Amino acid sequence: MAKTQDTDFSLKKKVTLSSLQALTAANEKFTCLSLYDATMAALAANNGVETLLIGDSLGMTVQGHNDTLPVTMADMLYHTAAVARGNHHSLLIADLPFMAYATPEQAMSNAAQLMQAGAHMVKLEGGAWLCETVKLLTQRGIPVCAHVGLTPQSVNKLGGFKVQGKSDAQADVILADSLALEQAGADLIVFECIPSALAKRITESLHTMLTIGIGAGSDTDAQVLVINDILGMTQYAPKFSKNFLMDSGSINGAMRHFVEAVKAHTFPADEHGF
Ligand code: KIV
Repeated sequence: MAKTQDTDFSLKKKVTLSSLQALTAANEKFTCLSLYDATMAALAANNGVETLLIGDSLGMTVQGHNDTLPVTMADMLYHTAAVARGNHHSLLIADLPFMAYATPEQAMSNAAQLMQAGAHMVKLEGGAWLCETVKLLTQRGIPVCAHVGLTPQSVNKLGGFKVQGKSDAQADVILADSLALEQAGADLIVFECIPSALAKRITESLHTMLTIGIGAGSDTDAQVLVINDILGMTQYAPKFSKNFLMDSGSINGAMRHFVEAVKAHTFPADEHGF
């Protein structure tokens, strides 16, 4: 029997930035899972998760640290290569870890290594101060996903894992940062733990950069969750997440339900937002 796109996942069309833009233009939400190994990558890709993030949250979920600061470039390269081996067609975004992009030159050398390990895009946390770095990377062919709001690598500066952008002044800074990062060339941006109304306002203000929310309400272009959270493998479930394994009974089912719920606009609900 000839293999088809239904029986051979490697034949599925690769997700690209253009296909994500086309989905958004057609008013269809897309999904992202933060995960760390080949098995989960293969399952997620096969269940229709368009983008896979090799998140530095692995410092907490895999390595057992209290935050993401101990994660190294060697860790990120190891997990990026593993996810790339399992993935067939999803777009892979790899986190630049703490202090791997303190200068634009450092960012370029480290981002290049992540791309050579199999990433299609790199993610970095921060606002307008990163514009020079974003320009440098994107002009040299490395797509960038920005990350604002609760930026876990700055947990010590933020005074904990807290919702950001609650005051008008803070909200204006996050909006200005997002516009500047778009102008600098970032193609995607993660909003982590910001008020839903702010995420909606910024999403509507942007022209080309697509928005991915986690704890940012339902009006972003996409939603990202961490694999451990959707499978209920967490001691304390974050308010913004949901255990999709509970009702679906299998890992495949949990991933499928996550994708279906985002596309049907039933996740996130109001109770998952701030
Ligand atoms: O590291 C990670 O998994 C992330 C997501 C929570 C967005 O940055």
